[in-house]
Amino acid sequence: MRLASVALLILTAPALAQEVEGDAERGQNLFQRQCTSCHAVDEPRNSAGPTLQGLMGRVAGSAEGFTYSSALQESGITWTEEALDAYLANPGALVRGTRMAVRVPNDAHRRDIIAYLAAQ
Ligand code: HEC
Repeated sequence: MRLASVALLILTAPALAQEVEGDAERGQNLFQRQCTSCHAVDEPRNSAGPTLQGLMGRVAGSAEGFTYSSALQESGITWTEEALDAYLANPGALVRGTRMAVRVPNDAHRRDIIAYLAAQ
């Protein structure tokens, strides 16, 4: 019994390590450097990109007053952590023809940015 639980711990430890939550504070920093030139997140203001205020659970391509690509508008995506992770890793791979070209290739950076966006 005891041995079995030790074995279980050893087996699950790497999986647990991968599920570490993103750090919203680091995410804010990354967001300010890589995203604020085109996106506001603390107000419903669109600029070169749509506002990302209230992004989690929002239907893709639905910020009022922003002219999206039809690709994003017709994607049928609702923004969840998983969808954002895929979009930020490679927007064009998830939504062919989207006008957002910025990629965040680093897994940890994406997690941090998503944690920050989710906290807004
Ligand atoms: C050079 C300008 C630019 C930068 C920098 C940029 N984006 Fe975008 N982003 C856009 C544009 C334009 C769109 C709309 C794409 C479309 O219509 O296909 C968009 C769309 C998005 C969407 C979908 C929003 C919605 O309403 O469905 C998300 C999420 C997003 N960007 C996140 C980010 C994040 C996070 C960063 C920083 C890592 C970032 N973007 C950096 C221009 C930018």
